[in-house]
Amino acid sequence: MASLEQSRQLVTEIPGPLSLELNKRRASAVSHGVGISLPVFVARAGGGIVEDVDGNRLIDLGSGIAVTTIGNSAPRVVDAVREQVAEFTHTCFMVTPYESYIAVAEELNRITPGSGEKRSVLFNPGAEAVENSIKIARSYPRKPAVAAFDHAYHGRTNMTMALTAKSMPYKSGFGPFAPEIYRAPMSYPYRDGLLDKELATDGELAAARAIGVLEKQIGAANLAAVIIEPIQGEGGFIVPAEGFLPALVDWCHKNDVVFIADEVQSGFARTGAMFACEHEGPNGLEPDLICTAKGIAGGLPLSAVTGRAEIMDAPHVSGLGGTFGGNPVACAAALASIETIESDGLIERAQHIERLIFDVLLRMQAGDDRIGDVRGRGAMIAVELVKSGTSDPDAELTNKLVTAAGAAGIIVLTCGMFGNVIRLLPPLTISDELLIEGLEVLRLLLADL
Ligand SMILES: Cc1ncc(COP(=O)(O)O)c(C=O)c1O
Repeated sequence: MASLEQSRQLVTEIPGPLSLELNKRRASAVSHGVGISLPVFVARAGGGIVEDVDGNRLIDLGSGIAVTTIGNSAPRVVDAVREQVAEFTHTCFMVTPYESYIAVAEELNRITPGSGEKRSVLFNPGAEAVENSIKIARSYPRKPAVAAFDHAYHGRTNMTMALTAKSMPYKSGFGPFAPEIYRAPMSYPYRDGLLDKELATDGELAAARAIGVLEKQIGAANLAAVIIEPIQGEGGFIVPAEGFLPALVDWCHKNDVVFIADEVQSGFARTGAMFACEHEGPNGLEPDLICTAKGIAGGLPLSAVTGRAEIMDAPHVSGLGGTFGGNPVACAAALASIETIESDGLIERAQHIERLIFDVLLRMQAGDDRIGDVRGRGAMIAVELVKSGTSDPDAELTNKLVTAAGAAGIIVLTCGMFGNVIRLLPPLTISDELLIEGLEVLRLLLADL
């Protein structure tokens, strides 16, 4: 394939005529339960660009929801997938296994936080990894309850809907949900700070509030696991106050509660570290189990649970698995992706992107009181929009901005419990120039609204 030109170009209105045609076919063939952020149909993508079927080139600030961290059709992934697909596409690891599954497990055991002996098990989407992390955690202490947090998002299967906080669109009408799931207050520095300045800055205080709920409403004797995203994704890129996560881990370890980090969105260099847990405390957090997916395999579907060997080995033989889990093509892609992150210095690249985005957004915030908060790490940065002169969430403004951005050839996504957060998740292969151009377009569009 000829390399994709790295420039924004609009040759039709967005969406263009061919996309509109495809959108009609979509409406009559695809379940209307699947929502589409921007009905622009893709022909090619790579670097920091998505090219549509009409020949428009859009700047990608979404990475297919934090998946193509190493870029779309990354060269090492393309080669590895081609090679594997020509050898065999599937045998099922549970029937006749193959080496690449083991190699991925070894790599995950090596690169995830935690120094002790570890094991991994592979699945397909993030939700399946989360489901299985709960199965594994429950089979270890044999206790029933699981605690998740306010604003959490863990997926769309029955168990993960139960763990997810937001009703619309994720849960509404789809219950009843899995039982024995409880919810604790998250540390949300921006919104906590509106009520109590100390709570916003003192993570241990915010953890004490959460632990109070765990102790009083569940009791450690009944609690198998606490699951948390070290930086919340769909919930609004919420980075908890310093000290919050270490205090929670500490409490879990003292009370035989399995601590699960859901790094499905924040993992694989996205936050300027291989995993977001590494930013916490002087030596980083050591979760008992860690769920990964999204950025793991350069766009191929693969997910994993990795963790302490004694917990990972607790389920009985054949208690874990699935037909497609650890598909050989996805495994080949994962090995190529990890190599790409490490060899191409993508962790440092994410740190550079963080500085660049913060620089622009903080200047924007200084002149615009509708920007309530700018937060995040690495190439996972959010802008929380509020009504001018208040801290009331402004979902309408957020939607208008995202729609205008799409029309101008910039792919951006929203998130947040109140639908008022713009999230920036560029691929780490985007050039500085494209990224700055994308941010500048957003700045101008917001100023116009
Ligand atoms: C933190 C987190 N956990 C789990 C999931 C579910 O992953 P998937 O959509 O691959 O099932 C997501 C997806 O956005 C996520 O952000």
